[in-house]
Amino acid sequence: MVTEFFTLNTGERIPAVGLGCWMGSPGAFDLRKGMEIALKAGYRHFDTAALYGNEDVVGDSIRASNVPRSEVFVTTKLANGRNDVQAAFDESLKKLNIDYIDLYLMHWPQATDSFVNCWKQMENLLETRKGKVKSIGISNFSVKTLNELLPHCKVIPAVNQIESHPYLPEWDVVDLCKKHNIVVTAYTPLGQANSPILKDADIMRIAEETHTTPGQVTLSWNVQRGVGVLPKSTNETRAAQNIDLITLSEDQMDRINKISENPARFGRLNKIVYDPASDQVLGWSMEKMGWEKTPYHRAA
Ligand code: A2P
Repeated sequence: MVTEFFTLNTGERIPAVGLGCWMGSPGAFDLRKGMEIALKAGYRHFDTAALYGNEDVVGDSIRASNVPRSEVFVTTKLANGRNDVQAAFDESLKKLNIDYIDLYLMHWPQATDSFVNCWKQMENLLETRKGKVKSIGISNFSVKTLNELLPHCKVIPAVNQIESHPYLPEWDVVDLCKKHNIVVTAYTPLGQANSPILKDADIMRIAEETHTTPGQVTLSWNVQRGVGVLPKSTNETRAAQNIDLITLSEDQMDRINKISENPARFGRLNKIVYDPASDQVLGWSMEKMGWEKTPYHRAA
């Protein structure tokens, strides 16, 4: 394992690997099974959201495991459209049915009419819900939206969770976050089902060289450059592989760093939130998101 934890700007420690708890449309993946496998395999970091509709399953599974609460790191996220941040937070806490939330994220910059106002409410939680939330952060912020938010922050976000993998390294976002001591975590770190990354010739070659799997190489690369990963698997073998990461050589890191220079190997692989008809993400144009206009279809 390269790094087991990253330290947040709040002083809290976040395990570098967590289980992504969005398990697809209801019934697509069995989260109860995924949680049970993950807890047994040693996962201690779980990433859910109000929008996933499964905070209760996450909380139930943690309690059923008998792993002490203090050893588990739980992230959940504010649903878009909630202007009443405090009430939304209380609902999540109640559904999770745990004493506190380790990390509460604004799920999207589209959260409310204004993400700056939303962030101010997130900041208030640290006072009004003292002890109930340890760290607050954001998700899906680009360089553009970060630069719009940061001048208004009394509290710098502890985390920015974004899509990232070797086909979408997001160097500029990662660099800006590093500068402000914001830990980046990556969703879709394997590229979702039938991922081209896991069949990529360079990734496969490095897996052979290191006697690991393409999944382990892909995740190790992100962790080694300081980015946390939130993979998901309901398969025991793959779930165990995904927390058993390695140290890559400088040359291997370089080869992975260069992958996305090839336009055929560059693009977003999470298609859930993208509407090709309008070319928008949850009602925002790519320009407004500050996302590069990478064709979603290209690498998929
Ligand atoms: P499965 O549950 O059958 O393992 P992401 O985390 O980027 O959303 O990707 C999840 C997808 O990747 C799922 O289809 C999952 O399928 C698959 N997956 C998870 N871990 C691995 C791995 N180590 N190797 C190959 N595929 C994996």
